[in-house]
Amino acid sequence: MATADVVTGAFSYTGSFIARRLLAAGHQVRTLTNNPSPPPDLREKVASAPLDFDDADNLVRFMRGADTLYNTYWIHSNYGAEAFAVAVQRSKTLFAAAREAGVRRLVHLSIANPSASRHPYYASKAELEQVVRSAGMSYAIVRPTLVYGEGDVLINNIAWVLRHFPVFAIPGDGAYRVQPVHVEDVASIAVSAGLSEGDIAVDAAGPDILRFEALVRILHRGVGSRSMLVKTPPALALAGARVAGFIVKDALLTRGQLDDLRAELLVSAEPARGTIRFSEWLPRQQALLGRRYASARTRHQPRPALLQGSNT
Ligand SMILES: NC(=O)c1ccc[n+]([C@@H]2O[C@H](COP(=O)([O-])OP(=O)(O)OC[C@H]3O[C@@H](n4cnc5c(N)ncnc54)[C@H](OP(=O)(O)O)[C@@H]3O)[C@@H](O)[C@H]2O)c1
Repeated sequence: MATADVVTGAFSYTGSFIARRLLAAGHQVRTLTNNPSPPPDLREKVASAPLDFDDADNLVRFMRGADTLYNTYWIHSNYGAEAFAVAVQRSKTLFAAAREAGVRRLVHLSIANPSASRHPYYASKAELEQVVRSAGMSYAIVRPTLVYGEGDVLINNIAWVLRHFPVFAIPGDGAYRVQPVHVEDVASIAVSAGLSEGDIAVDAAGPDILRFEALVRILHRGVGSRSMLVKTPPALALAGARVAGFIVKDALLTRGQLDDLRAELLVSAEPARGTIRFSEWLPRQQALLGRRYASARTRHQPRPALLQGSNT
């Protein structure tokens, strides 16, 4: 019989790429999600139930018989500290349900350098890694850097600003580095980690390490932007991001995100496991990249209860 796995968020971003990899490897995939719009190719192949942390019994029932839980659940970085404390508690509920359901292995999506920042997104990721270690299942912690690919938020939104504004403010000297990783690479690293043995923690980072200014210039060329690139004091760049954020009713860039970016937390200290090159991906995607603003926050607005029914 085919191995059955559960992926949280298989109809959303990274989870959908993990689900496709597992299906291609002959596994059955179920998902816990509140996303009412499955990608067409997953609709018939992936059974779903609501990711309802208030109904632990249903979580247990749904996960029974599964071998591995791939957990992508987390909230976006522009929430406050209280929301992250709740997200940690919810993750604990999910892990306890997985253990009770007899799930053997937990593959948990964390973030690169989780202990290196005091901001709540990172601090609670670091805290949650400790929870994973004592969750009573064998585990693999996968720590992506900056994930990009079709449907991403950050790279798309840099391109969106470059397409739609006459000026792009590069915060500070722009010399700090980032190491983007393609979402296909993240999925491949996560599935390999799921299929391996033993308790492990691995970074998921791509083959290119770029200075932020270089990344912006590549995108600038790629999308044919006429925007003027200006290096500004970080506070001014944040003010500019607030103006753009006002237009789209979202936080484009928070002080915490900018601090972490400038502290090079989106760079791995490990040899790169990803193989997809940013420079090879961009020409395939540049016609669409940044045409529309992508909001991580509105993607996960509470959804009407009617839309959350199980289709198992
Ligand atoms: N994207 C990056 O650049 C990046 C970088 C480093 C690490 N990571 C980590 O990789 C994992 C996956 O990230 P992703 O960008 O692929 O996320 P995503 O698909 O947007 O969301 C992942 C999961 O979290 C759930 N979720 C998100 N916001 C929520 C909210 N406000 N309330 C309730 N549920 C919410 C989603 O629910 P639905 O299924 O209902 O949509 C989905 O199950 C996360 O742990 C993230 O921290 C991402």
